[in-house]
Amino acid sequence: MTTTHSPIAVAGAGTMGSDIARLAAFSGFRVLLYDSNAEALERSYERLSKSADALIEKGKISRVKADESLKNITKVNSLEGFSNCGMVIEAIVEELSVKQDLFRKLEGMVSKDCILATNTSSISVTSIAAACSLTSRVVGIHFFNPAHLMPLVEIVPGMATAPSTVETAVKLIKSWGKTTVKAKDTPGFIVNRVARPFYGEAIRIYEEGIADFATIDWAMKEIGGFKMGPFELMDFIGNDINYKVTETVWTQFFFDPRYKPSLTQKRLYEAGYWGRKKGRGYYDYSPGAPIPEPKKEKKLGEEIFLRILSMLINEAYEAWYYNIATRDELETAMTKGVNYPKGLIQWAEEIGVSKVADKLEQLQHTYNEDRYRPSLLLKKQARP
Ligand SMILES: NC(=O)c1ccc[n+]([C@@H]2O[C@H](COP(=O)([O-])OP(=O)(O)OC[C@H]3O[C@@H](n4cnc5c(N)ncnc54)[C@H](O)[C@@H]3O)[C@@H](O)[C@H]2O)c1
Repeated sequence: MTTTHSPIAVAGAGTMGSDIARLAAFSGFRVLLYDSNAEALERSYERLSKSADALIEKGKISRVKADESLKNITKVNSLEGFSNCGMVIEAIVEELSVKQDLFRKLEGMVSKDCILATNTSSISVTSIAAACSLTSRVVGIHFFNPAHLMPLVEIVPGMATAPSTVETAVKLIKSWGKTTVKAKDTPGFIVNRVARPFYGEAIRIYEEGIADFATIDWAMKEIGGFKMGPFELMDFIGNDINYKVTETVWTQFFFDPRYKPSLTQKRLYEAGYWGRKKGRGYYDYSPGAPIPEPKKEKKLGEEIFLRILSMLINEAYEAWYYNIATRDELETAMTKGVNYPKGLIQWAEEIGVSKVADKLEQLQHTYNEDRYRPSLLLKKQARP
C-alpha cells in the first residue's frame, strides 16, 4: 500500500515527469526522479530549482519550504532504488514498446505492493499493463500540462486493474490537491476525446472558407465565453502534439470519421509551424507581425459557435451514453481539465437539447457525412 511514508518514483524527467515530481515533493513525499538520459535529468533539476526561485520571488512559498521540498527529490539514473517505493509514475516517451519495456523492468525492481502508474495520454492502459505479470497493480494516472497547476487528473483503470489499486491512486492524487475523475480505458479517455471537435470542427469551418482563424477564435471567445479560441489554443498546445493526439484518437477509434484529422493541421505539423514555441503556427508570432482582425459579424459568429458547441455536446453525450464516465465526471473533466466555461451537458440543457439535435441533423443532412451523426442519447433526450 502507498502511504505518505513510501517514496514515489517518477520515470521520465521531461515536461510532465518534472512537474509531477515537483507536485509530489511539494506535497511532502520523497521522490526518486529517473530518466535514461542524464542530460534530461540535469535539465529537469535545474528547471525545478529555477521555478522554485520564481515562486519565492512572487512570495508564494518561503525559501525554507522550497529548499525542503526540493530536497525531497533525488535524481537517479537507474531503477535500483525503486524497491521501497509505494508508486511509480511513468512519464516517458509516448511509445508503447518503450513503455512496455520499462514496465517489464520495473516489475523486477519494485515490491509486490507497489502501484505502477502511467501518465500516457493516448496509449491504452491495458496494452501497457499487458507487458506485466501482475496486471492488477497497473493504472493510468493522467495529469494535464502543467501537472503541478492543472487541477484535473483522470484515473484510468485497465482491464485487469484491481479496485484497490484505483482506490489507492485516487486517494493519493486527491491528497496532492487534485480533482480526480475516473475514465474508461478508451481512446483519449475523457478530455482528449470530448474536446476533439473544438479543434477539428473549427479547422473544418476554416477549410470550407466560412471564416478565417481570427473570426472563429473571436466567435468562440466572444459568443461562447471560452478563454481561448481553437486556433490560439492549438498554437499554445503545439500543433505537433495536438495533431498527433487527433491522429491517435482517430486511428484507435477504427477511423471513425468523427475524429478525422485535417490536412490543414497536418501540413502545419509537417512545415514545423507548431505554434508559439516555433514562432509560427496558425498565427505568426514573430516580432512586429500583423495581428489579424476578426470579422465581428454577430450572425456569422453565432453560426460558428453553435456548430462547434453542438459537436462538443454530441461528443459528451456519446461518452456519457457509452459509460466512459458519469455525467458529473464528464462535466468536471471539461471544466477543470480544459477550462470550459460550463459543463457540456448543462450547456445543452440550457440552450435546449432539441436545438443541438436539430443542428447536428441539419449538418448531417447537408454534408451527408457520418461525422455529424447525433448520439442516440442526445436524440432520445431531444425527442422523448
Ligand atoms: N506534454 C503534455 O502536454 C502531456 C500531457 C499529459 C500526458 N502526457 C504524457 O506524458 C508522457 C511524457 O510526456 P512529456 O511531454 O513529458 O515528454 P518529454 O519528451 O518532455 O519527456 C520524456 C522524458 O522521458 C525520457 N525517456 C525516454 N525514454 C525513456 C526510458 N526508456 N526510460 C526513462 N526515461 C526515458 C526522455 O529522456 C525525456 O526526458 C507521455 O506519455 C505523454 O503522452 C504529456
